[in-house]
Amino acid sequence: MTTALPLPLFPDSATLAGDELVVGGVRASVLAAEFGTPLVVYCEQSLRARARAYRAAAPDALVAFGTKAFPNVAVLRLLAEEGLGADVSTVGELEYALRAGVPGERIVVHGNNKSLEELRAYAAAGVAQVVVDALDEVALCAEAGVRSILVRTTLDIEVDTHEAIATGHHGSKFGLPPELAMEALSAARSAGIEAAGLHVHLGSQLLDAAPGQAAVVGLLQVVLEARERLGGWTPSTIDLGGGLGIRYTQGDVPPTVDMFAGGQIARLRAEWTTHSLPQPRLILEPGRSIVGQAGFTLYRVGVVKSTGDGTTYVAIDGGMSDNPRPQLYGAVYEALLAERAAEPLASGTFAVCGKHCESGDVLIEEARLPHPRRGDLLAVPATGAYTLAMGSNYNALPRPAAVLVGSGTARLIRRRETLADLLALEA
Ligand SMILES: Cc1ncc(COP(=O)(O)O)c(C=O)c1O
Repeated sequence: MTTALPLPLFPDSATLAGDELVVGGVRASVLAAEFGTPLVVYCEQSLRARARAYRAAAPDALVAFGTKAFPNVAVLRLLAEEGLGADVSTVGELEYALRAGVPGERIVVHGNNKSLEELRAYAAAGVAQVVVDALDEVALCAEAGVRSILVRTTLDIEVDTHEAIATGHHGSKFGLPPELAMEALSAARSAGIEAAGLHVHLGSQLLDAAPGQAAVVGLLQVVLEARERLGGWTPSTIDLGGGLGIRYTQGDVPPTVDMFAGGQIARLRAEWTTHSLPQPRLILEPGRSIVGQAGFTLYRVGVVKSTGDGTTYVAIDGGMSDNPRPQLYGAVYEALLAERAAEPLASGTFAVCGKHCESGDVLIEEARLPHPRRGDLLAVPATGAYTLAMGSNYNALPRPAAVLVGSGTARLIRRRETLADLLALEA
């Protein structure tokens, strides 16, 4: 555990004004006063920079933002301005993308259990590709009027990440092993659907670029075999998925976008040239690496108390309902006191807990902070992906608002839920 201030884990525009955290030119105290807490804050500069990094690493590819990481109309619109599309896995996510003005030809559809009704909605939206995840889905696609598909294949590549977000191994609920993937391609052609190509996604929060290279080699083998078996069939499109990890703690060292995605693309282009295959159109689906570091969460500290075993709990006004990643994945976070950031650290550590009725509702087990007091603002970095998106209303707690900051201003991009919103669901 490092004692260095975790400022590098915050968005690109983060800086200190005296003791106070400032992001996008807006002070943390101003954000909390204007929008309340808990509050998820997104930095426009970081979002645009990540989008541009992908566009630079893959200028000819369709970069489809993994909407699941943070489904938000304003963020999808901003990314669309940067030329990105959207990877959606439900009709709900599709609606967010359409509302944001993402054109159908930049939308890629996923999901391991798509219904006929959902497929009809995707076809009606004119999406670029539906990624087939099961053999009998091909017939459903034909019935729904889907024109072009990719087949998701699992190449049995192990990755070093939490088991819940590893998806490229045999035994995953996602995709089809190569043998069945080829059957799906063949079935699509028989059904009069364009069998455009193959998709692979190895998992999420990957801190190593090597498995992505192995995936390219694995895909090549499948393509070469499919060419033989399917009478010279060649993919016009290859989708390499997402997966690039981010820094949650100062010990994390992810590859850059260029090393991860750029490296994968260079390998694919070279392998395809070596085997005299026509170069396919490429699709990438980054989620976490676009929005993860761009977002952080501001909480207000309430109770600070010591327990019999010497633990000092610092209770915040949110918890597992706005960020369930510690409970789901054993995720580790760092934090700072947003108005006392530069003060000396206390000698011990603090357990930052939420306000939910569960002992496991601990956001950070060992936070290094100046001694916290009731009323302090706690800022937790790298909470832009898979946090609010996976949030809940446990304990009937309305979910936080989200704002976008930049050039000294803050704009609400998702309003705070109210108790009335929750009660409106009651019959
Ligand atoms: C098919 C697919 N593509 C892209 C993503 C986005 O992954 P990440 O957020 O790790 O970039 C996911 C996430 O689970 C996924 O399942």
